[in-house]
Amino acid sequence: MALRDIVILPDNILKQHSDSFALVDAAVRDLADDMLNTMYHAPGIGLAAVQIGVLRRMIVVDVAREEEPREPLCLINPKIIWSSEETSEHEEGCLSIPDTYDLVTRPAEIKVQYLDRDGAECERHCNGLLSTCVQHEIDHLDGVLFIDYLSRLKRQRVIKKFVKAAKQNGDNS
Ligand code: NI
Repeated sequence: MALRDIVILPDNILKQHSDSFALVDAAVRDLADDMLNTMYHAPGIGLAAVQIGVLRRMIVVDVAREEEPREPLCLINPKIIWSSEETSEHEEGCLSIPDTYDLVTRPAEIKVQYLDRDGAECERHCNGLLSTCVQHEIDHLDGVLFIDYLSRLKRQRVIKKFVKAAKQNGDNS
């Protein structure tokens, strides 16, 4: 299991669409393990493949509390097949947008269809933090970031901060 570098805003790959997997093989399972390892190390509660520079439809999540045993989930080709009308608001952050948090409103509950790490077809009903996290990660697969739900002013402020930081890093190297 390797630790991968996490792509940070304003890297353009974060705006790109990810492709589905045709099958789940050993290489796909290795990618899942790398993603989980990278997510736990960060630490974070969710990671999409695009965040380590791989434009494929896979997400990993674990919303277990720190004192609880780990509950790693790997969702391959995830698809939301139902969303509740009821919404909920959570403060979100993103490993690709460090130290930035804001409230986002999303459907409170969803049903998601996916292939697991063994390639088995699964369906899962998600609510609470898991629902928010899965929706946030699936958005990544379509080039959507949580800051895209904020006001234009807030979003521009965040992007400006990261463009400036990237420029400074470039100047220093
Ligand atoms: Ni994210």
